[in-house]
Amino acid sequence: MWHHSLAYEPITSQRRRRYVAMMSAMAQLRSATSSSHQRLEKRLDVKSRFTDLRAYREHLKKMWGFCAALESRLAADSFGGALPDYDARRKLPLLTHDLVALGESEGGLASLPRCAAVAREMDAAAAFGCAYVLEGATLGGRTLLPLVQSRMGFTSSHGARYLASYGDNVAAMWRDFGSALDGWCCVAERRHAAMQAAVATFDILGDWLCGAP
Ligand code: HEM
Repeated sequence: MWHHSLAYEPITSQRRRRYVAMMSAMAQLRSATSSSHQRLEKRLDVKSRFTDLRAYREHLKKMWGFCAALESRLAADSFGGALPDYDARRKLPLLTHDLVALGESEGGLASLPRCAAVAREMDAAAAFGCAYVLEGATLGGRTLLPLVQSRMGFTSSHGARYLASYGDNVAAMWRDFGSALDGWCCVAERRHAAMQAAVATFDILGDWLCGAP
């Protein structure tokens, strides 16, 4: 009887809260940002951005300006000691390499506009939320790499290092990042701060890449 009544119990906000508390921080982040991801994917217009050389170069320059701003505010010790391999996760060296392969000079890159909207002050939970967005983008990169390869001839060693990111280690790097984030975001306040930072980062990146709506 007890089981029977439980099965028909409506999902009260209390039950929902309990359910959310059972999710990992990574699962919460995924669900909190899934609509942001969908919106960004739509705004990006993948078919033109990753098949046309000029559009691809502009995209890389924009990503360079975003990562230059964000990564200058982050270091291995920004994550409360929970992400010691942060430096190996930086995207700027990969983007620099790609842009040079596409004919840009390193000196020219230094004067590219940088995204000023990126948060200035971050605690470790917010740093994890921001990093979640760029680490997650390595998963999308796996889908985009074959496109730029077949349409423009770029490879993981020439012109598409950023999209290829960790190569065969993408899944392992994502798993390790998830464990580190889950470990740090073990209390509600930190999860909340990470979610807010991740959603804000998606919005800022979308506006930066595609122009504010
Ligand atoms: C700069 C743009 C992008 C950002 C910042 C971004 C960010 C993310 C994030 C944070 C995740 C992880 C979601 C999770 O917690 O599981 C993710 C996953 C994914 N993204 Fe993106 N993404 C971007 C562009 C794209 C594009 C253009 C595509 C496809 C054309 C794409 C396809 C995917 C796919 C397929 C996954 C899931 C992969 C898997 O579960 O193995 N993303 N992305």
